[in-house]
Amino acid sequence: MEKDTDVKKIMAEERWNKRNARAYERFIKVTPSDDEQFWEDAIVNTPINKNAVILDLGTGTGFLARIILKNGFNVLGLDLSKNMLAVAKKKAPETFLVRGDAENIPLKDSSVDLIVSRWVLWTLPHPWEALEEIVRVLKPDGRVILCDGDSKNTPKSAVIFGTIRSFFKDILIGWRLPTWKRVYKKLDPHLPRWDYEQISEKLRDLGVEQIKVVHDINKRNGLLHKHIFHSEWEQFIVFFSNKR
Ligand SMILES: C[S@@+](CC[C@H](N)C(=O)[O-])C[C@H]1O[C@@H](n2cnc3c(N)ncnc32)[C@H](O)[C@@H]1O
Repeated sequence: MEKDTDVKKIMAEERWNKRNARAYERFIKVTPSDDEQFWEDAIVNTPINKNAVILDLGTGTGFLARIILKNGFNVLGLDLSKNMLAVAKKKAPETFLVRGDAENIPLKDSSVDLIVSRWVLWTLPHPWEALEEIVRVLKPDGRVILCDGDSKNTPKSAVIFGTIRSFFKDILIGWRLPTWKRVYKKLDPHLPRWDYEQISEKLRDLGVEQIKVVHDINKRNGLLHKHIFHSEWEQFIVFFSNKR
């Protein structure tokens, strides 16, 4: 049984090694532009001022950080992997980048106006600790936009299609399938995989009341678009504010 520290080490050094960080950036390039548009709209429509403190939790190669910078805000990008941060540094050089753990955010209580995070919770051994940390560092009127994959409610047909598609996409972008599989064999038993209902429940336990969830996002896209571009997981987005 791997210890949590080992799981995080594997995540940082094997899953998101140098080669995979570069491959991830190629993967980002084939992400449909509607994802980018969604985030741009979400950020622009969030009532924050230009000096707002914005945290991109698990920034990876800086997909969200770039959108935030493009819209004239400053952003702090936090990630566990130095390889992902190295790509983010090239792609979004004005981001203030910090190596750190989403389950133990190195920021003061009530210090952040907006936290955004895409596809990070599912990589954590204790996503509920990350939620506690998010609520802790958020200002009393701060806001959060989280997007993740709903691995629990994914239909079998999507998994089969997704596996075939991933195989070709992995070759195209340069992820080494056998290595990736070996890494996930070690990680999978330690990643609890939450769905949006559990996340909402946990947030309510933490005293957060203003929660809005948008789910079945991939389903809204056409069949071809959905199967070619998105992962087999359904995506959901949770918006909440720290007002209690
Ligand atoms: C699927 S990528 C998502 C990257 C980025 N948010 C995006 O939307 O493209 C997951 C990211 O989570 C990071 N990560 C995994 N565990 C983490 C942890 N405990 N603390 C901070 N970042 C973590 C990984 O290094 C990786 O960059």
